Amino acid sequence: EKGNFRHFMAKEMHEQPEVVAHTLAHYLDMANDTVQLPELPFDFASLQRVSIAACGTAFYAGMIAKYWFERYARLPVEIDVASEFRYREAPLPADGLAIVISQSGETADTLASLRYARQEKQHSLAVVNVPTSTIAREAEAVLPTLAGPEIGVASTKAFTCQLATLAALAVAAGRARGAISAEEERELVHALVEVPRLMNQALDLGPDIEHLARSFAKTKDVLYLGRGTSYPLALEGALKLKEISYIHAEGYAAGELKHGPIALIDENMPVVVIAPYDGVFEKTMSNMQEVAARGGRIILITDETGAGHAALETEATLVLPDMNPFITPLVYAIPVQLLAYHTAVVMGTDVDQPRNLAKSVTVE
Ligand code: F6R
Repeated sequence: EKGNFRHFMAKEMHEQPEVVAHTLAHYLDMANDTVQLPELPFDFASLQRVSIAACGTAFYAGMIAKYWFERYARLPVEIDVASEFRYREAPLPADGLAIVISQSGETADTLASLRYARQEKQHSLAVVNVPTSTIAREAEAVLPTLAGPEIGVASTKAFTCQLATLAALAVAAGRARGAISAEEERELVHALVEVPRLMNQALDLGPDIEHLARSFAKTKDVLYLGRGTSYPLALEGALKLKEISYIHAEGYAAGELKHGPIALIDENMPVVVIAPYDGVFEKTMSNMQEVAARGGRIILITDETGAGHAALETEATLVLPDMNPFITPLVYAIPVQLLAYHTAVVMGTDVDQPRNLAKSVTVE
């Protein structure tokens, strides 16, 4: 039941610190700051490549994981939306791993991608929330996300639990491949252990975001920008806003702005810039300057250090605590979800049951 919350989506967003902690506890040895995964039927050290297939929000979790696997495990990753992967006839390497990601474990295209990968002799691993699902049954290995039942059609807690699971997996891969040291493993795991506390702080931005949502609800289009792992999060932010508020939104890699979308910017266009103070912060700031110079309305989501360095006027700046860049997608997901949620509430849409959408997409 919804408890004190108006919608399942609100309840599920607020459950995130708890369910993410639960998921992390399953994959980490928190006392020693190390990763502890169940036995897997393949060896990360000998893998040639990972192919990820998923749909919608689960696809964006996979995109973030691609950055992690490449950066922390030096493991090449290809990612496709499942409806492309299954038909693309991509050559798959002899020692390849296919990862499918799904909340429901029943998404038709994701299941077909898993079957295709198995037929092509790939190892297979499913990151799923429903342990009794078809995808969980058919994959060679399963890493469950312990989000609990997700009722709201818009995925929130399943997404951050997918990220928690994939983050632990990326660190494990990094160790197995000798790409990170024991010391680096401890740092990364320690950063993960901090996530639930940081998520609670992110949830405290609720009232500010509620206020912001009132002006958002009057706009027709919104642009989301980010670089690095904030780029898939920009895509996720745009998807969330579209599906529950019906406001048109697009996510872009911030560096792509000047290659087209900048033509859209005027004084009516809100631009949500997701920019933690990480290695690409300054680059994103120069993209923000380009938006400001054209009168765009900037909503900056950053941390304390970033807010100090952003020498620009914004319509709003949402400030999170400083944190290890590794974990920013998990924490920054929260303001992005809250913004979509509160905008939809102002618009008066059916937040938990958006028009034309179903929780589980079992048609192709
Ligand atoms: C977005 C959303 C969808 C799902 C997608 C995949 O909020 O919920 O985009 O993420 O339909 O569903 P699963 O994860 O069940 O395979």
